[in-house]
Amino acid sequence: MVDLSLDFLGMKLKNPVMPAAGPPVKDAEAARRAAEGGAGALVTKTISREAAQVPRPNMAEIRGGFLNTELWSEMGPEHWLTKEYPAIAELGLPVIVGLGYSAEAIRELAEKVAPYADALELSTHYLGDDPTPVVESIRAAKAGAELPVLVKLSPQIDIPAFTRAAEEAGADGLVLINSFGPTLDFDVEDGRPLMGSEKGYGWLSGPAIFPLALRSVYEAVTSVDIPVIGVGGISRGIDAVKMLMIGAQAVQVCTAPILKGPEFYGKLVEEIKEFMAEQGYSTLEEIRGLALEEMPGESQFATIPPEVIEENCTTCMLCIKSCVYDAIELDESEDYVVIDTEKCAGCGLCVTRCNFAALNLKRPGGK
Ligand SMILES: Cc1cc2nc3c(=O)[nH]c(=O)nc-3n(C[C@H](O)[C@H](O)[C@H](O)COP(=O)(O)O)c2cc1C
Repeated sequence: MVDLSLDFLGMKLKNPVMPAAGPPVKDAEAARRAAEGGAGALVTKTISREAAQVPRPNMAEIRGGFLNTELWSEMGPEHWLTKEYPAIAELGLPVIVGLGYSAEAIRELAEKVAPYADALELSTHYLGDDPTPVVESIRAAKAGAELPVLVKLSPQIDIPAFTRAAEEAGADGLVLINSFGPTLDFDVEDGRPLMGSEKGYGWLSGPAIFPLALRSVYEAVTSVDIPVIGVGGISRGIDAVKMLMIGAQAVQVCTAPILKGPEFYGKLVEEIKEFMAEQGYSTLEEIRGLALEEMPGESQFATIPPEVIEENCTTCMLCIKSCVYDAIELDESEDYVVIDTEKCAGCGLCVTRCNFAALNLKRPGGK
């Protein structure tokens, strides 16, 4: 039996999957669907002192990812305080309330939302070099409410500098990453940007940013002792497992439930469980941070060429097509591929392209 429950900053979660601040938690009705879909906790759409004026269009699916130019909630704090938060608090899941974007606004809002929140998440979306605004936001949240304070960081910053400053300022946890950008895409027929923002720029999320998120979470967990939630590009169970293995305590998802619906949370939970059961793990503690032990710390030099596991090769030719060193060809028998040791540079691309586990690049100390 796999048990995905966890205690996160005093909150009891049945599983580590939660929506990230965004449209999937834009109001109480959306939060209810997330809860029914299987989320282990709820994060609410970031609010600020005023309702946001959001340009349109503001969301687009693009190849490998997603663009948005949404800001914070288009509903003001009074509406949230009278209508949305009370209904969300009834849903029976831990609630992390999203707040932004200045220390003054956070100070004022933290106090007001405290009765409905188990924790606060400060969305800073700050891109500069100086962590002062983040530090001030944390202090303001701490002054406004006696609640755990999580800080959400963008990937474009010096992560250890910000995580250490956040920890020193009293943050109880971190959330990485916010969407990446600014970025641009447009319609090739009329040349108009996909986003309605002033410059047509948008912020990238979805699978394209997953490796960026993973590296960011890695830098966060190795730079501070406070817990980290991993977010960015998670679209299947194995992505969530990787986030946990790099040291995240829990995960958040935004783009995937936008595109696939609120059932996605439960599906992700099932996929995490399936992987863990297959690999013989039964609790989150067993996989948390497991990959940290494998982070090299120095350059690696794998054995050249990759080994060909002849019985697995289907001669699909995928490796031959993409071998930039022209080192792979079919064996005379045409039953499997062979690699020219002289030509092979050991780049490893063929191994990652093979869908049949027919190629294996031996790493030092590994298989
Ligand atoms: C349409 C949209 C709206 C978002 N709104 C917010 C927001 O209000 N506050 C915030 O902190 N992050 C916001 N985000 C960022 C997400 O919470 C998340 O950090 C980012 O999209 C990466 O995760 P994903 O790849 O799973 O979407 C938004 C993202 C999208 C796509």
